[in-house]
Amino acid sequence: MQVDVLAADDLKKTAPVFGQLSFDNHEQVVFCNDKDTGLKAIIGIHNTVLGPALGGTRMWNYNSEWDALNDALRLSRGMTFKSAITGLNLGGGKAVIIGDAKTQKTPELMRKFGEFVHSLSGKYITAEDVGMDTEDMDIVREVTPYVTGISESKGGAGNPSPITAYGVFMGMKAAAKYKFGSDDLDGKKVLVQGIGHVGEALVEHLTNEGAIVFISDINPSRLEEVSAKYGVTIYTEDPYDAEVDIYAPCALGATINNETIHRIKAKVIAGAANNQLQNENTHGLLLQERGIVYAPDFLINAGGIINVYAELEGYGKQEIIRKTENIYNTTLEILKTAEAQAITTHHAALKIAQQRIDDRKRENLN
Ligand SMILES: NC(=O)c1ccc[n+]([C@@H]2O[C@H](COP(=O)([O-])OP(=O)(O)OC[C@H]3O[C@@H](n4cnc5c(N)ncnc54)[C@H](O)[C@@H]3O)[C@@H](O)[C@H]2O)c1
Repeated sequence: MQVDVLAADDLKKTAPVFGQLSFDNHEQVVFCNDKDTGLKAIIGIHNTVLGPALGGTRMWNYNSEWDALNDALRLSRGMTFKSAITGLNLGGGKAVIIGDAKTQKTPELMRKFGEFVHSLSGKYITAEDVGMDTEDMDIVREVTPYVTGISESKGGAGNPSPITAYGVFMGMKAAAKYKFGSDDLDGKKVLVQGIGHVGEALVEHLTNEGAIVFISDINPSRLEEVSAKYGVTIYTEDPYDAEVDIYAPCALGATINNETIHRIKAKVIAGAANNQLQNENTHGLLLQERGIVYAPDFLINAGGIINVYAELEGYGKQEIIRKTENIYNTTLEILKTAEAQAITTHHAALKIAQQRIDDRKRENLN
């Protein structure tokens, strides 16, 4: 096969991996390719100081390989801080599979992906993320023990999404308490963007509490289904312009960006999506300046990792619920710390997480 020499030179100049903006001293990045099944995957291992790198696998039809790599790098870094702030002995990792989960995901492809995970000997442990189901993790389990989020019937903790939603609900209540003086969401207008596994479960908690819920998604049939099931309103306009009290991003990341940030009218942002701030420095600061309380994503969406960690540590549902409910206290503490130190809520959370990693690193050296 003829190689395009010019393109290769261009690639070298751009420092395609270590030079990526989202590369943050990741320990290892693994590119997986299998011609027979069509698997193209990237596993990002950001940091393993606290333990093996655990994080889900996302299957998405990325516009380019650069987007996929960027996502793997950003998501795996986020996992490091998520586990650290939640007090779990886990490092940060994440995998992305390039392709359409609806049409290109096959048992053979998932099994092959599992073999790649296995080749890392437990340094990376996978789980489900966007485009994945518990059944996919069951297939991965056929070829490697380094997978969590498998079915309860197979000895796993099951789908982590309901617990993730419960944690987001706790974080949202804490943010409401801080901003509005009460954590009662009765009568509060909440827009949930993305009503997939987590978004739908969040809608259920919100409607049970009497919140006025608006939903937005790119999938019209999901909108109809969830609207009919919970009696909530489909928001047809651009969600960033919505006149609501709380915005809950539960689709993909980077929805808080230069295009949207000045339009957001909500006073609280609390949702499940990973990496909601396109730029954690500038966009975090802009939210702070605008008086919008941002509940850090990696802090309040940790319910899922708490749930899968239970599989590794062998604790039960009660402990999962207890740890997830604690997201309320941690969120409130972080919001107050950020105010006291005049830093963004995102940085306040990062600081605490980084401190735990640094302490452990020192202990490991002694
Ligand atoms: N599942 C978990 O336990 C878990 C844990 C932590 C974080 N998260 C994060 O939460 C988010 C949602 O996860 P999920 O498991 O519910 O995923 P999912 O695939 O089940 O749902 C995502 C939903 O978002 C919709 N969507 C996609 N792009 C959109 C857009 N531009 N505008 C509006 N809607 C859009 C999709 O149609 C789908 O309904 C993801 O960012 C994921 O990384 C999930």
